[in-house]
Amino acid sequence: MTDYLYEKIRELIVTQIRNKALLPGDRLPSVRQFSRELNVSIGTVQKAYAALEDLDLILPKRRSGYYVKAVRAMPQPKAGSFTPVPGKVNVLETAVSVMRSASRRDLVQMGSAIPDVSGQGVRQLHQEYRRHALKIPNYEEDPLGYLPLRRQLARRLLDTGRSVDPDDILITAGCQEALTIALRCIAGPGDIILVESPCYYGVLQALECLELKALEIPVSSAGGMDTDQLETMLQTWPVKGMIMTPAFSNPSGYLCSEPRKKKILDLISTHDIPLIEDDVFARLGFNGSRPRTLHSYDREDRVILCGSISKMLSPDLRIGWIIAGQYAGKARTLKFTSTLCSPCHPQFALAGFLATRKLDRHLRSIIPGYVKKQQALINAVNRWFPEGTKISSPAGGFLSWVKLPEEIDGLRLYHDAVSAGIAITPGEICSPTGQYKNFIRLNYAVVPPEETDPVMKRLAGLLTRQAT
Ligand SMILES: Cc1ncc(COP(=O)(O)O)c(C=O)c1O
Repeated sequence: MTDYLYEKIRELIVTQIRNKALLPGDRLPSVRQFSRELNVSIGTVQKAYAALEDLDLILPKRRSGYYVKAVRAMPQPKAGSFTPVPGKVNVLETAVSVMRSASRRDLVQMGSAIPDVSGQGVRQLHQEYRRHALKIPNYEEDPLGYLPLRRQLARRLLDTGRSVDPDDILITAGCQEALTIALRCIAGPGDIILVESPCYYGVLQALECLELKALEIPVSSAGGMDTDQLETMLQTWPVKGMIMTPAFSNPSGYLCSEPRKKKILDLISTHDIPLIEDDVFARLGFNGSRPRTLHSYDREDRVILCGSISKMLSPDLRIGWIIAGQYAGKARTLKFTSTLCSPCHPQFALAGFLATRKLDRHLRSIIPGYVKKQQALINAVNRWFPEGTKISSPAGGFLSWVKLPEEIDGLRLYHDAVSAGIAITPGEICSPTGQYKNFIRLNYAVVPPEETDPVMKRLAGLLTRQAT
């Protein structure tokens, strides 16, 4: 995918500065000399130096070379852990390939994060769509979005723990557009945004297109976000904002605890930055309860809430929303100047659907299916995958994060799997620094539980071929 060699060189120098082997004012080796010493191209060293300049750690002086500029305290790495630094993102090529494989009917779909759309709820939504399809829209409709839909959403969003005015909701083309608008509201090219690691690759795609830099905060499937690391990063770097999915995050599946939500809000308040909360999976908890949002605890108008119907119902209507608080004016301008407003008919259909109890019935019928499918996947992975494999068992959503033995290349497995008729997601696109090379993400929403075992057996066969 990417040439990460330059990042290794960048890391090497960051470590030397951190360890005080290089002090402010010290001259770095010349580009030519360093390229000879490391046996890499001049371009690679130039790229590493440019990245260090971007990080404000070194300074070029005319005809003299590069000098260490570090004046701030560098983060101390935890024992045995990777300490990320902010950097540009480069995931688009693989991410687009993964997304395109999601539309192939000839593949078993375990790649993209699409829900089970075979239930009655989705059929009813489409009946509603047909009912409205011939309606002539009123062209004076508010560009914020169809008001009856915004009213329905405001009612439903009460379950987040905070009441929302319909006029504070802006309808978008799915949550992806909401996230992109939110990022554009809070930051511009070159700014640093904190992201979960591993992270939803759509966020990384947006960062890449907007020329924002990503800084990773580790999250684990069991324990959630490392708030100590978050604090260190906030103390160290001039961060512009943060983006996270606290409920059944993609791909790790973690659920942020209530005390941790409060701790995160305290930290962003101390460091005076906004937070974008991605709420797409929140209504898919296996115990039927919907976690509170960070937005609901926010008393300082720092949290921008983004959501959609894509994961709980269906992604094809492309309906999402953003509640941008203090950024509402800018969010509207960005929406109005890029797509004017969202199409009317899907909004008519969803408003009609939400006016009934059909969504609740749909969720009650679909979630037990996800519980069964997750168990079938875990059983099959444990049965067929090599020793050393670990699979997450999130308490909601429909994605499992799988750690494979170190020597397995998840990207190669992705290509082999597609050739063998199975779509999966390679883990490395879930990190801006290409970590998680031996990870994959599997979606268990679509494949019936009785078909999971043979599919995993086939995937395990491809793995074994790689290992030998
Ligand atoms: C965490 C997360 N946020 C946002 C999105 C995008 O959702 P939508 O289809 O509503 O644009 C996805 C899609 O996979 C996702 O996993």
